[in-house]
Amino acid sequence: MRRRATAVAHPNIALVKYWGKRNAEYNLPAAGSLSLTLQGLSTQTTVEFVDHQPSDLIILNDRVLRSGHERRIVDFLDLMRSISGINLPAVVRSTNDFPTAAGLASSSSGFAALAAACVVALGIDVGPAELSVLARRGSGSAARSILGGFVEMQPGLAEDGSDAYAVPIEPDDHWDLRCLIVLTTRGEKNIGSTRAMEQTRATSPYYQPWIDSVPEDIEVARRAVTDRDFQTLATVAERSCLRMHASAMAADPGIIYWNGLTTTLIHRVRNLRADGLAAFFTIDAGPHVKVFCEAHQVSAVEAMLRAVDGVNDIIRAKPGPGVHIVE
Ligand code: DP6
Repeated sequence: MRRRATAVAHPNIALVKYWGKRNAEYNLPAAGSLSLTLQGLSTQTTVEFVDHQPSDLIILNDRVLRSGHERRIVDFLDLMRSISGINLPAVVRSTNDFPTAAGLASSSSGFAALAAACVVALGIDVGPAELSVLARRGSGSAARSILGGFVEMQPGLAEDGSDAYAVPIEPDDHWDLRCLIVLTTRGEKNIGSTRAMEQTRATSPYYQPWIDSVPEDIEVARRAVTDRDFQTLATVAERSCLRMHASAMAADPGIIYWNGLTTTLIHRVRNLRADGLAAFFTIDAGPHVKVFCEAHQVSAVEAMLRAVDGVNDIIRAKPGPGVHIVE
């Protein structure tokens, strides 16, 4: 038997953000979140459990991960080994077709693809909810990339996290939205989201008010998605993004992901609306700005963004499918 599988997953962008955990061991979110899975960016991961190797070998974008950078993935493989009872080292080969660790949600597609490839390679029989629970153990946002289209992450109540998984809201063909990912710098982000959200939880006076504000935003966003109500989605998505960043900025020491261009783009997007182009922004744990608009206005919106000084790269994405096995 060949214990090998390859999966492809797409990153997702949260429209209502996840920022804070109620339990770090099981990686349980303190509140729900709501996202769109994106086609146009993808991670392909092949995992093979082998008996001819002393330990796990993790290759990300053709480079071997070492010196602790492989820890998170090895921990995840350990979890998979303990569930399956198959105690073999693994070779993991993963490739992103977009910048890794730059706040472009590579952990969402990365752990979704790894979880799906592992369960197939190890013969673990799971449905989408259980697969989402497993992906969550790798990274909270990965739980959402198991599914395509518009997705809601349920925070759950169970202590073991068995009810903390993603559920579908609307499929990827429900609404022809476009996402323009405007890269404001090259290189990796300064502080990873796991550490930053923990620092926010532990030290920010705005953390609890932020968490308390999430359920209402999810209600509003869910309805806006189902009704294809762009204006309402724009309002709630920008609000959620700014509140998340405000809670992080108020941590001690403060966490600031934005650069000057990030701020310029925020104002530019708001001006676009004043000019009659429907667009809104969201920003994750990095300086890049994701701009959403409807398909028929994407060229006009992109042209406006390209005209901003300092912008060189824009990645186009649209609603995409959930994780799938390709081999
Ligand atoms: C800002 O999913 O990377 O992108 O669960 O610790 O791996 P861990 O965190 P992660 O956090 C994502 C944070 C965010 C917002 C979001 O995607 O909801």
